[in-house]
Amino acid sequence: MIDKKFKVVVSVAMVNLFLFIIISRSISQDKGEHHKVHVPSKPFWTKLAPSSSYWNRQQQILDFHNNHIFMTNHSHTDFPEWLNDTSLTSYPCQPNLRVTTQVKDYNSLPGRFKDFLLYMHCRSYPIMTDQPDICKEPPFLLLAVKSLVPHFDRRQAIRQSWGRAGVIANRTVVTIFLLGNATAGDHHPDLSSMLRFENAHHKDIIQWDFRDSFFNLTVKEVLFLEWIQARCSGARFIFKGDDDVFVNTFRILDFLKGLSGSKASDLFVGDVITNAGPHRDKRVKYFIPESMYIGMYPPYAGGGGYLYSGDVAARLHNVSRHVALYPIDDVYTGMCLRKLGLAPEKHKGFRTFNIEEKYRSNPCAYKSLMLVHPRTPQEMIQIWAWLSGPNLTCQ
Ligand SMILES: *[C@@H]1O[C@H](CO)[C@@H](O)[C@H](O)[C@H]1NC(C)=O
Ligand SMILES: *[C@@H]1O[C@H](CO)[C@@H](O)[C@H](O)[C@H]1NC(C)=O
Ligand SMILES: *[C@@H]1O[C@H](CO)[C@@H](O)[C@H](O)[C@H]1NC(C)=O
Ligand SMILES: *[C@@H]1O[C@H](CO)[C@@H](O)[C@H](O)[C@H]1NC(C)=O
Ligand SMILES: *[C@@H]1O[C@H](CO)[C@@H](O)[C@H](O)[C@H]1NC(C)=O
Ligand SMILES: *[C@@H]1O[C@H](CO)[C@@H](O)[C@H](O)[C@H]1NC(C)=O
Ligand SMILES: *[C@@H]1O[C@H](CO)[C@@H](O)[C@H](O)[C@H]1NC(C)=O
Repeated sequence: MIDKKFKVVVSVAMVNLFLFIIISRSISQDKGEHHKVHVPSKPFWTKLAPSSSYWNRQQQILDFHNNHIFMTNHSHTDFPEWLNDTSLTSYPCQPNLRVTTQVKDYNSLPGRFKDFLLYMHCRSYPIMTDQPDICKEPPFLLLAVKSLVPHFDRRQAIRQSWGRAGVIANRTVVTIFLLGNATAGDHHPDLSSMLRFENAHHKDIIQWDFRDSFFNLTVKEVLFLEWIQARCSGARFIFKGDDDVFVNTFRILDFLKGLSGSKASDLFVGDVITNAGPHRDKRVKYFIPESMYIGMYPPYAGGGGYLYSGDVAARLHNVSRHVALYPIDDVYTGMCLRKLGLAPEKHKGFRTFNIEEKYRSNPCAYKSLMLVHPRTPQEMIQIWAWLSGPNLTCQ
């Protein structure tokens, strides 16, 4: 019995010794080869296949050309022809007729898609009205309102209420309106002389010469990012929103004053939508066909209005050159943020889908909100009077 046990112990010990030798040998071998670099003889990445959707494919091309590792040692002839399509980076802004064959159902798409696709490569339009000195003293908060030429009453209501420029709560606020052109081609009446009058009076209009349509709002966004760097790069914070929202400027200033350090410099807050994707129902305003885009959307803040830092504005401006224009402007901004590695933050004070009806005429309901959509010009003035009155006491 003892003999047998002894044999077992010895053989277990021998196996252990054997394993020890094998392991230590392999460790010492590893040590010896530690600084040897393994060079794969073939590419270890999978071959890039062109997406069947036009936007995705254009983005693949942009990403490829912006990838310095690939680009340093590849001549133009090395890579497949589809990656050689320079539609998006070519100049000048002439209609790109190649899209008519590159987008497979081009001919059956609604007109707005054709218009978008033909000019998708163009990001630069002349400025017709500028305010070069409006930020001579860099504001704490720049309020930038997307508007349309005929919306005189909305702009005036904003000036008389939440967009009142000057010093509010001991902080400087500058308000501007972002306009494109209401073109005769879209049967707009010629309001240009009234606009000139308005601007002579208020000096707060920025207008570029492009057709102001829903699908061109991304053009407005890109031009605005450019404008900030040229004219207002000292702004600490920027609010960008629509002309049919009410903004509680007091609450926003209060919120911003409380921010510090990285929280302030990386700020991007709004009514953030996550896990959304393109609408495939043709009747929806936000419909996008599969020939144009596939995949989910990154998190993005609803375009009714969002708030970000001047620092983020500079980074967005830089990165936007590397993101193909997308017909929905708030989704586009989300795409740029994703490329920057920034996540927009949801704040429940941004109510782009309104508040419950029973609270809408209650002054106290607005006290802690930052934004409510939609509101008419009269409602804006009414709510602002509530919030500015000396007697508003809420729990
Ligand atoms: C690129 O190619 C050149 C010449 O063929 C070579 O000297 C250089 O090291 C290569 N660079 C990279 C990043 O591979
Ligand atoms: C890519 O474009 C360049 C310059 O436009 C041209 O010289 C080259 O032949 C093209 N390569 C392919 C594969 O089409
Ligand atoms: C107003 O703001 C300035 C800095 O912007 C600060 O120095 C000053 O103390 C503030 N005044 C009041 C009354 O809060
Ligand atoms: C923009 O508007 C101005 C003034 O109404 C007009 O003269 C000009 O032709 C318009 N631009 C375009 C591209 O329609
Ligand atoms: C955007 O504006 C350009 C320049 O005015 C115009 O040619 C194009 O049709 C517009 N795109 C859309 C989608 O309206
Ligand atoms: C933007 O890009 C320029 C040039 O590449 C760079 O010098 C600058 O630091 C960038 N700015 C930001 C805010 O990323
Ligand atoms: C605010 O309160 C004062 C004194 O309590 C009163 O005289 C004044 O009429 C009130 N103003 C409004 C707008 O209710």
